[in-house]
Amino acid sequence: MDNKALYFVFFFVFSVRGDNKVPVVKLNDGKEIPGFGFGTWLGFGKRAWTDNPSDDAVQKSVEWAIDAGYRHIDTAYIYFIEDQVGRAIENKIKQGVVKREDLFVTSKLWNTFHAKEAVVPAIKDSLKKLKLDYLDLYLIHWPVAQHANESLADIDYLETWQGMIEALNQGLTRSIGLSNFNEKQIERVISNSNVKPAALQVEINLNLQQPSLLSYCKNQQIAVVGYTPFGALFPHRAPADAPPPRVDDAALVEIAHKHKKTVPQIVLRYIMDLGVIPIPKSLTKSRIEENFQVFDFSLTDQERATLRTFDKSYRIIPVKNWIESPYYPFEK
Ligand SMILES: NC(=O)c1ccc[n+]([C@@H]2O[C@H](COP(=O)([O-])OP(=O)(O)OC[C@H]3O[C@@H](n4cnc5c(N)ncnc54)[C@H](OP(=O)(O)O)[C@@H]3O)[C@@H](O)[C@H]2O)c1
Ligand SMILES: *[C@@H]1O[C@H](CO)[C@@H](O)[C@H](O)[C@H]1NC(C)=O
Repeated sequence: MDNKALYFVFFFVFSVRGDNKVPVVKLNDGKEIPGFGFGTWLGFGKRAWTDNPSDDAVQKSVEWAIDAGYRHIDTAYIYFIEDQVGRAIENKIKQGVVKREDLFVTSKLWNTFHAKEAVVPAIKDSLKKLKLDYLDLYLIHWPVAQHANESLADIDYLETWQGMIEALNQGLTRSIGLSNFNEKQIERVISNSNVKPAALQVEINLNLQQPSLLSYCKNQQIAVVGYTPFGALFPHRAPADAPPPRVDDAALVEIAHKHKKTVPQIVLRYIMDLGVIPIPKSLTKSRIEENFQVFDFSLTDQERATLRTFDKSYRIIPVKNWIESPYYPFEK
């Protein structure tokens, strides 16, 4: 696919929701998803985003995000913070800032609940922690299945998808989708089921722009949510082998200055221009607000061409310890 085609992958239907200008994206099941969201993952191991976050750090961040205008919140069972997200949503509803129906809440099924009959209990557990009676979107977090002791399990994700359909039919979620599935795996789900995934959540950032996967999803009318939008932009979180750019990259700084924006804002704007829904995470109030100010400017074709050159098919989250799974989704 050539650059020009990619730049115009706007399956976004631009319209105004509330008083901010977040694009609304139509899903293939008739529902709508806000074209910009908020992430809630604290990171793992020694690459954790934040050292010793307080027990209410995520709760506060979600409250700030809702105050700033975010209406789409991304979480997952395995982040172990769904209870904090639930308290934040409950507070903001109590305070009259939002109603449940104004929010779009996504959670994800962990790998240890891939047996068909495990899916409905798993989503009910997430709903309980989130203090909600339905999700807007529930995703299979990874195509890889694991036993409770974390060893790899041989459960086909087609079986898991049947459990997801059951959760949908029971009204526990309004839409269902996939995360970290490759094109062949998505195709297999589509051709073996009568419910098409509404959304795919995958890593999308400057180093991993995934043009062919995006074009496949566009043709299939599957909305793409892009995780880890900042990739290796911030030096403290960049793996040693990560290609440039960092946040002080001269070309990025120049584009940012021209628009009176910051480099993170340029990156988020570019990801939206790819037709992708970014879900940046931050625990910092000023950054949460900064990241949301990306609807009042546009990049030029030339600037997008510059940003395109950073695509090195470099994955920051390859999860190599699952490489032996028959369902491992990435290049080995
Ligand atoms: N489906 C999946 O498998 C999967 C995998 C990974 C992530 N996700 C989802 O995607 C979300 C986003 O990805 P992510 O959390 O991995 O990474 P990210 O959003 O790309 O980056 C988060 C990091 O960037 C910093 N940051 C945010 N805005 C900034 C700004 N304006 N200036 C400077 N630093 C800034 C944050 O710092 P502070 O927090 O300290 O402010 C944090 O260290 C996750 O939270 C999660 O919801 C899903
Ligand atoms: C993990 O659990 C599975 C299923 O119960 C079992 O077959 C396997 O031997 C266990 N593996 C380890 C390393 O304990």
